[in-house]
Amino acid sequence: MGLPQNIILVGFMGSGKTATGKELANIFKFDFWDMDKWIEKKNKKKVSEIFKEKGEKYFREEESKALDWFKAKTHYVVSTGGGVWINPENRQRLLNLGWCVWLRVNPDQSMKRVGKNLRQRPLLFQNNNPILVIEKMMQERNPIYDLAHTSFDTNEKKPKKIALEIKKYFEEEHPFDLFQLQK
Ligand code: S3P
Repeated sequence: MGLPQNIILVGFMGSGKTATGKELANIFKFDFWDMDKWIEKKNKKKVSEIFKEKGEKYFREEESKALDWFKAKTHYVVSTGGGVWINPENRQRLLNLGWCVWLRVNPDQSMKRVGKNLRQRPLLFQNNNPILVIEKMMQERNPIYDLAHTSFDTNEKKPKKIALEIKKYFEEEHPFDLFQLQK
């Protein structure tokens, strides 16, 4: 495939991109990069504060800048923010930066996972009925997430289990020239 050796996790809020990404980075001995955390550090503000004070447009521009920073990196597991993939330009860049894995999640499970930390999800928090927003957004976004190289179901699964399934896939399918796996 000639792709750089990065594993890029995409998917809706609450699909487990961060927790699974950390597990995967451990398994593969890759570095872990959380895009939202990078943006928070750069702006010295939480994502929720950035949305509130500077607006979504600004945040989306920061996502593109995060990709500029990442562009020459290899041997990373990347946890993307749920919306970065939706922008066609960003999506094409991610598809060229490594193997893109969509972590699938259903609305109830997403709600269950993000519910504890809803304040940090500005797109859901502002609404009285977050589950309806989740359903609607997923309907729009799932066909776009489906453009990733591959996907895994995460419902009712712990991050470790998902990471091991992904590891198995990489061992069996070796979608790109495989790195040294630590067994
Ligand atoms: C967003 C998802 C969030 C964060 C921001 C916008 C989205 O990241 O980037 O609130 O548009 O889906 P997580 O997917 O890590 O929750």
